[in-house]
Amino acid sequence: PISAVLFDLDGVLTDTAHAHYAAWKRLADELGVPFDEATNEALKGVDRMGSLDLLLRHGGLSVDPESRDALASRKNGWYLDAIQAYGPADLFPGAREALCAVRDAGLRSALCSASRNAPALIDRLGIADLFDIVVDPASVPHGKPAPDIFLAAARQLDLSADRCLGVEDAPAGVAAIHAAGMFAIGIGDPQVLSDADRVIPSIADFRLEDYHAR
Ligand code: G6P
Ligand code: MG
Repeated sequence: PISAVLFDLDGVLTDTAHAHYAAWKRLADELGVPFDEATNEALKGVDRMGSLDLLLRHGGLSVDPESRDALASRKNGWYLDAIQAYGPADLFPGAREALCAVRDAGLRSALCSASRNAPALIDRLGIADLFDIVVDPASVPHGKPAPDIFLAAARQLDLSADRCLGVEDAPAGVAAIHAAGMFAIGIGDPQVLSDADRVIPSIADFRLEDYHAR
């Protein structure tokens, strides 16, 4: 039986995956780097500087550390503009219900997002009180696809990995869940998420009882 569900945020509970993409796309366009949704798949779930490095490498560019920091903050500024008016209505249908189902079943819930903006975002979305823990991505040495953030959640909840279920929309996130030794539910396209143990189209299709009794 499982004891906790570990949720990614962007692209799982709310549609910020698209806002991240739009901001990276704008930066790529300015830099003359070819960039589309398919290229963006590799950035999903990857932290800010890691994503920027993937984008720069994709364009065959290398920049000095100062410009690298400046580019990352520009992207983040556009992203923050895009989400500044976010509220509870920007949750995906079924997101709040999934979190409540975990609570009602007596399980614990954790937020395992690579985003430094996640704490502010869950406040705005009105779901901050539905998480037992929010893992600070700055506190773990390696970002996704490394398992660190999911292992940190298990440690903080005092649970072994096999009692945890991870929910992710990104290939890097599914890889991180598996590297942590956990069961991975993918949200989205089964072809993109072929490594996941189970793929559902959206969080509205999350049925805790399908996994809880496994
Ligand atoms: C999430 C998103 C990524 C984003 C990362 C860092 O994992 O899926 O697209 O790059 O968070 O977000 P941040 O808000 O810290 O720039
Ligand atoms: Mg995500």
